[in-house]
Amino acid sequence: MIYLKTPEEINQMRAAADLVSRTLGEVAKWIAPGVTTLKLDTIAREFMRDNGGRPACLGYEGFPATLCIEVNETVVHGFPSNYALREGDIIGIDTVVEKDGFMGDSCYTFAVGDIDPKVMDLCRTTKESLYVGIEACRPGHRIGDIANAVQTYCEHRGYSVVREMCGHGIGRDMHEAPEVPNYGRRGIGPVIRNGMCICIEPMINMGSRNIVIERDGWTCRTKDRKPSAHYEHTLAIVDDHVEILTTFDYIEEALKDRFI
Ligand code: MF3
Ligand code: CO
Repeated sequence: MIYLKTPEEINQMRAAADLVSRTLGEVAKWIAPGVTTLKLDTIAREFMRDNGGRPACLGYEGFPATLCIEVNETVVHGFPSNYALREGDIIGIDTVVEKDGFMGDSCYTFAVGDIDPKVMDLCRTTKESLYVGIEACRPGHRIGDIANAVQTYCEHRGYSVVREMCGHGIGRDMHEAPEVPNYGRRGIGPVIRNGMCICIEPMINMGSRNIVIERDGWTCRTKDRKPSAHYEHTLAIVDDHVEILTTFDYIEEALKDRFI
């Protein structure tokens, strides 16, 4: 069942979404060659707790960390580790915070130092496809319209769309109905309505769309080990328009400050 939120509940969603956005902004300050992904996890966990939040991934169905770490060929749900970032890596950081009973969910793929321009194009295209999906998310339209918009945008640029994982409704639970795929036909799926809160999260591969799950039961990587990128926003449909509840502004501010 799709749970439509009241204006008060959407206010609480705004607060959760702001905290997850600020958390990614904090993590962004630390992304550099030599930094371990476990260090990033500690930064995020402490930042969430210091700001009245609970790291919602930690312990979720046994997930062992605050952050999902997605280095290069990792698509989603990788664990933080002693791996130290290297110049040329990309790292997707996906996380969820609970604040006063509501969830905020966001993901951003970062470049570590200088990266291959082809990989940069994958990241840029994936981020753009998120906004293309958001543009298609309008009251009266259907979830399939979002899915089709993301797929068309990425495939026309030579990339492939991961199909086994998708976006989702969000609220008091991290994953609520409906599922929000990144591929599919226009005009199908649930109608988008005021009060819906959803996450759109394209997971886009440089090579084939095929994935494998590692033996840890979580880490999802590309089968061909080519890179994959991932961006995510939490959205609400309010007053007949879409409101992006999360923001990359904190991240982009942090990244800008570092290169001046
Ligand atoms: N944005 C991710 C998702 O929707 C967050 C997963 S948290 C985890 O699947 F705990 F499941 F890893
Ligand atoms: Co999500």
